[in-house]
Amino acid sequence: MFNDPAEINDVGVVHYPDLDNHVRIFDTTLRDGEQSAGASLHPYEKLQIAKNLEKLRVDIIEAGFPASSEQDFNSVREIAATIEYSTIAGLARCKQSDIQAVWDAVKVAKKPRIHTFIATSDIHIEAKFNKTREEVLNMAVEHVRFAKSLCEDIEFSAEDAGRTDPEYLYAVLEAVINAGATTVNIPDTVGYTLPNEFGRLIYNIRHRVPNINQAVIATHCHNDLGLAVANSLMGVMNGARQVECTINGIGERAGNAAMEEIVMGLHVRRDVMQGIHTTVNPLYFYETSRMVSEMTSIAVQPNKAIVGRNAFAHESGIHQDGFLKSSQTYEIMEPEMVGVAATDLPLGPRSGRAALRMRLKALGYDLNGEQLQALFPIFKRVADEKKRVENDDLQSIHAEWLSLKV
Ligand code: KIV
Ligand code: ZN
Repeated sequence: MFNDPAEINDVGVVHYPDLDNHVRIFDTTLRDGEQSAGASLHPYEKLQIAKNLEKLRVDIIEAGFPASSEQDFNSVREIAATIEYSTIAGLARCKQSDIQAVWDAVKVAKKPRIHTFIATSDIHIEAKFNKTREEVLNMAVEHVRFAKSLCEDIEFSAEDAGRTDPEYLYAVLEAVINAGATTVNIPDTVGYTLPNEFGRLIYNIRHRVPNINQAVIATHCHNDLGLAVANSLMGVMNGARQVECTINGIGERAGNAAMEEIVMGLHVRRDVMQGIHTTVNPLYFYETSRMVSEMTSIAVQPNKAIVGRNAFAHESGIHQDGFLKSSQTYEIMEPEMVGVAATDLPLGPRSGRAALRMRLKALGYDLNGEQLQALFPIFKRVADEKKRVENDDLQSIHAEWLSLKV
């Protein structure tokens, strides 16, 4: 049985002395992400995205669901043959033919993984399968064993774990670890749990599953209540060391936890994370976000954290003035870190003199205080009319101010 943790800090991060602090990032953009309504990807596009995920130094790429179609099988195999750094996983139901299809597709990879899953909540066991808990547990064990006969690296997911009876979940996890699972995934499939509840579930798994130190605990949180990232972080804070996520948070229904938010959350708040970290290189987040958005035709909302158009834009006069005095007044990370070229100071009706002066100067118009004062009402009028003042508007504003002087 797992020993009690040595330390829980003020923000609730549990320090387990015998657990490594590397959080593995498992990207499922190409599988769960592609399950977003209307987001089908061509195999060529999947390969391009996989190459970017490798550039990001993602630990595991779930490349697809090989048994779902011949095209997906071929696409997973092509990714497995191309990617060298990341482990390549494919998804399988607890069905021998699915598991064999994953193995046939991923075995060429430098680091292959079989990911098999079965639902463990009563609502799924009864309504979907019309089976008993015992039958489901036996199916899980039998198929993990079969997968293990093919591949060393086996992940088992207890679908709908968030709504599964915890005692039954512990029993299933113990049994599949004994059968050879090296990662046990705890999906909050319908995004139902609250952060403290999900964190507590991971904590209890660490303490109640006797052989848990033979496997990595993973989180797989959906965003139906907008809590996927918060729940994933709570999972990590309580002992999970793999997080399943997607670029831009795309995925079934309201999506999955967004990778860029998890990685930057752990990095920006490393002051309280007790050494818990990822090895993802955030420099390629913006580029990969745009690529995924274009290829899936799923737009990124402007206020999306990290990669949204407004994530590093300050429009109000007070914020622009503060930012120009010290960027740390209104920014908790530098945009360059995630591949965004620079902070944007858009000019609009609420902008002030500081940002206006800076933008005019960049255009070659170096105005003193008195001159700026005289030009400002013209700027305000145009900003109220147009809502956003661009460089060519600034040139006209400057010309109008000059004409007033003569
Ligand atoms: O949400 C879920 O439960 C899944 C599993 C297949 C891992 O995507
Ligand atoms: Zn999912």
